[in-house]
Amino acid sequence: MLEDLQKNFDRDLDGANSSRELQDLHTRYFGSKGVVKDLFRKLKDLPPEEKKQLGAAINPFSEAAQARLNEKRERVAADEARRKEARQLIDVTLPARTPRLGHLHPVTIVRREVEQIFRDMSYTIDPGPEIESDWYNFEALNFTPDHPARDTQDTFFVDVEKLLLRTHTSNVQIRAMERWKPPVKVLSAGRVFRRDEITMRRSPMFHQAEGFIVDRGIHIGHLRATLEHVVRKLFGPESKMRMRPSFFPFTEPSAEVDMSCVFCKGAGCGTCSQTGWMEILGCGMIHPQVLRNVGIDPEEWSGFAFGMGLDRVAMLKFDIPNIRTLFENDLRVLQQF
Ligand code: DAH
Repeated sequence: MLEDLQKNFDRDLDGANSSRELQDLHTRYFGSKGVVKDLFRKLKDLPPEEKKQLGAAINPFSEAAQARLNEKRERVAADEARRKEARQLIDVTLPARTPRLGHLHPVTIVRREVEQIFRDMSYTIDPGPEIESDWYNFEALNFTPDHPARDTQDTFFVDVEKLLLRTHTSNVQIRAMERWKPPVKVLSAGRVFRRDEITMRRSPMFHQAEGFIVDRGIHIGHLRATLEHVVRKLFGPESKMRMRPSFFPFTEPSAEVDMSCVFCKGAGCGTCSQTGWMEILGCGMIHPQVLRNVGIDPEEWSGFAFGMGLDRVAMLKFDIPNIRTLFENDLRVLQQF
């Protein structure tokens, strides 16, 4: 009888390989309704001789069996804990998931580059507001209410408090000169708006960078040297520039600046209409009336200012022939930068 039990137990113990199965096995053999208790109960029906023999053998069997069972339970529990921990670890041999990286917009690349060039010359960077009053966008810049130059900046008006979308970044000149006493050096880059049809070259929303300086003894030589530095930084040390007389209400004298064509290096090609030159910015010496408008004495202080089209620079730098390409948000284009 005990031999059968021994054999069954060995087989069952072999087959139980999880904590749950071993627990069941324990209950089945050593629980209050288990096989061992059952055996004790059967003892009383046996003849005295067998009763004595079996009775003496049950306890040693039971103790040895339970010891083996417990030993296996501990081993299996430790195994299970180890496997659970391993499941929570990261498998460093798995191939990595490649994150989808964004790209800087070409205009952003150029804007940051221009800002850095001026930061290196210790200009203050100040973007200024896009929604502006007539005073800051026009009047303080010496555009009188019926000034014909207003017609060249066809304006979007906002229906509130006579506000408008700034037509250029020159508004920041006035705001910055009100805020900081001279000497002052500011660069401002951002969006500007004009009621223009969309064409290859024009868009109703585009970008400008505006720079200006007010200090004692500033003259047009400082302006020219600064712009030459910027053009060379942006387009390489061989780039040349020239200044042509022009007109802006807020500068006197005023000039437009051309740089040598980036495509033909000045030889003449289709892009520069065979002239070898491309217009890139307007500039001049800040008009004395503009300084007076912000309470700066033009007898003591003078300054220069310039405004540059950033979209134009991006198109030239990255060889983009159509300004629309910049604003269509076509990922096939944007991913190239
Ligand atoms: N604000 C002018 C425009 O949008 C550009 C400009 C010209 C800015 C001359 C200046 C400047 O600061 O001095 O056409």
